[in-house]
Amino acid sequence: MFVSRRVNELPPYVFAALDGRIAELRAQGRVVVDLGRADPDHAAPDAVVAAVIRASQIPEYHHYPPYAGMPTLRHAVARWYADRHGVSLDPETEILITGGAKEGLFHVAFGVCDPGDVALVPDPSFPAYRMGAYFAGAEVVSMPLRPERGYLPDLGTVTEAVARRARVMFLNYPNNPTGATASARFLGDAVAFARRHSILLCYDLTYGESGYDGYRAPSVLGVEGGRDVALEFISWSNAFCMPGWRLGAVVGNAAGIAALRHVETQVNTGVFPAVQIAGAAALDEAGHSGVLTAINESYRARRDRMVDVLTELGLQVRRPRATPFLWIPCPDARPSNEYAAWLLEETGVALAPGSGFGAGGEGFLRLSLTALAADVEEAGERLRRLGPEGLHPPRLPPVVRSAAVPALPERRVRVHQGAQHGRGGVSETVGEDPPTLAAALRGSL
Ligand SMILES: Cc1ncc(COP(=O)(O)O)c(C=O)c1O
Repeated sequence: MFVSRRVNELPPYVFAALDGRIAELRAQGRVVVDLGRADPDHAAPDAVVAAVIRASQIPEYHHYPPYAGMPTLRHAVARWYADRHGVSLDPETEILITGGAKEGLFHVAFGVCDPGDVALVPDPSFPAYRMGAYFAGAEVVSMPLRPERGYLPDLGTVTEAVARRARVMFLNYPNNPTGATASARFLGDAVAFARRHSILLCYDLTYGESGYDGYRAPSVLGVEGGRDVALEFISWSNAFCMPGWRLGAVVGNAAGIAALRHVETQVNTGVFPAVQIAGAAALDEAGHSGVLTAINESYRARRDRMVDVLTELGLQVRRPRATPFLWIPCPDARPSNEYAAWLLEETGVALAPGSGFGAGGEGFLRLSLTALAADVEEAGERLRRLGPEGLHPPRLPPVVRSAAVPALPERRVRVHQGAQHGRGGVSETVGEDPPTLAAALRGSL
């Protein structure tokens, strides 16, 4: 059978080898603690479950939903934004319901990019941004996220030539995988940049309800001018522990919503209406009942426990103000894939290799606190038993930063050595050929 070049060029899924090894070890009877996956351990709130049971008994909700989403849910989202962010949204033109945030994030480039246009994508980042842009025929330009800048991209390193061709820019705070947060001031700079270059700013607020020690994540729509240039993507998956329900929403700039709705109408027919009614209950009832505080508090306790253990072991780990993620430098700057595989064999603890989020994640591991509290505790104990000396495996080669990036045909890729700021990293694909997936992914998923 013929398989398209785009699909053929897909590099191997970085997490697949680790997933396979976890399965093998379990089959051998080893008890593996998986802190690599991000899948909330809590059940959906009672009010939400009750709402879906009620709604699914109403025949009217068994029909096709409206393409933009049920009016009940769009109005609930508008109320949520007014209460939570002080932002007023028109449910008719500024809100679109999707089957999870991923769906909208993947498809948005289809709505605003022509082949050859540029998509600015953070590296490391959630893979759907670059994958959607790649499949839409856009050229992906990576914006490195570095610890010394608090994992915020340096927009000043994007050249005028690239910015002129850019149609879309993705940002995600609170951030997966680094756990970084962004201030309203940074969002203001991003909005100004997007406005200056007529770029659609796609702001992924999937972890917007995550926050510890009083932290509350800002909305880009609350920033002056944000509504003129931005779409914001929200999700019920992590906020309300509903990842299997597949519910998300895109809000903001009406022209951007219209373009995305046009694409979605061709691809999808919407989310089961009873799930949408339950999504409204999540916002109206659970969202104001202390459920979010309880979820955050459970992750905060796990965060503190794990950060203490890792710090005791001599690892430099930041205590994130939001997200269930710890971003851990690999001891001795080892390649993340190899280190994660070694750690799994040695301790039975699985962490996600940072290279799975792009070449910029190389040299890091992501630890997810969404596992059962007992599993997080067990993983901490196993690491403590290993001790600071035991964290340094003897035989692995030192990391080569560019190792995760496969060789690309020269005519298709040019890597800028950060001309404006003396740092490498911002790269672009050039030439007449359509972009390769390798270029779009900068090496890995
Ligand atoms: C940063 C980020 N954006 C989007 C998503 C997708 O969310 P959803 O389950 O709503 O599709 C995830 C899920 O892990 C994520 O980590």
